[in-house]
Amino acid sequence: MNLKKGKKFILLLLGALFMVVGCSQNSNQLVMVTEAGFAPYEYYENGEIVGVDVEIAKEIAKELGKELVIKDTAFDVIINELNSGKADFAAAGMSITEDRKEKVDFTIEYTTSNQVIVVSKDSPYQSISDIDLKEQRIAVQLGSVADTYVTKNYPQATLNRQKKFLVAAEDVKNNKSDCIIMDALPAEQLVSKNPELKILDGVLFSDSYGMAVKKGNKELLDSINKVLKRLMEEGKIEEYILQFGGE
Ligand code: ARG
Repeated sequence: MNLKKGKKFILLLLGALFMVVGCSQNSNQLVMVTEAGFAPYEYYENGEIVGVDVEIAKEIAKELGKELVIKDTAFDVIINELNSGKADFAAAGMSITEDRKEKVDFTIEYTTSNQVIVVSKDSPYQSISDIDLKEQRIAVQLGSVADTYVTKNYPQATLNRQKKFLVAAEDVKNNKSDCIIMDALPAEQLVSKNPELKILDGVLFSDSYGMAVKKGNKELLDSINKVLKRLMEEGKIEEYILQFGGE
């Protein structure tokens, strides 16, 4: 093979490869994207991703007669995964916000959440009102509502954006951050695994979770909403939260 032909061959091969990768999402599969470091909603147990969102997703897959595939990524790329067609829907304890609504379509809300502050057990603070956030080194999950909240309201604070809450917890334990701002149930689970940490009394702000699809994917959105409505009516979501140790 001469050089030119060789090049052409490689290009063809690459093209074929891209097509295979691009189309690997076979139509019998329903791909959920998440960040699986967020117990009780999604986390690893014996090498498998489990949790409240996973139980709901299983019901959605059942409704559609599809095989559920779960993709674990960084939280801040989830919206991109949807918009690039790499995943069908996001189930990630994702708070419904105006900013996100511009990029994806949200389902109905299926649960509410409070944002709380996690500090070292040795901290003299007891309550949120004791703490002046603008003077803190604050750890958040990159791309989370806590990230946006601190960026907007406390530009003077030092913000330590982490991809994983486990790393944020280590930051507080090692005195690299003073606190973590995060969702209440995941905070409780984090603290139960890390006795060096505690949660301050009080709530910083509240929001609601929704699942998300690529903008305009009404068909899937309607199916997910139908399942969410049924599960809420049956009290299943609370049941899943209890099952995965949420409360
Ligand atoms: N509720 C927060 C938000 O939407 C945090 C969600 C984090 N979820 C996760 N699976 N890591 O920004």
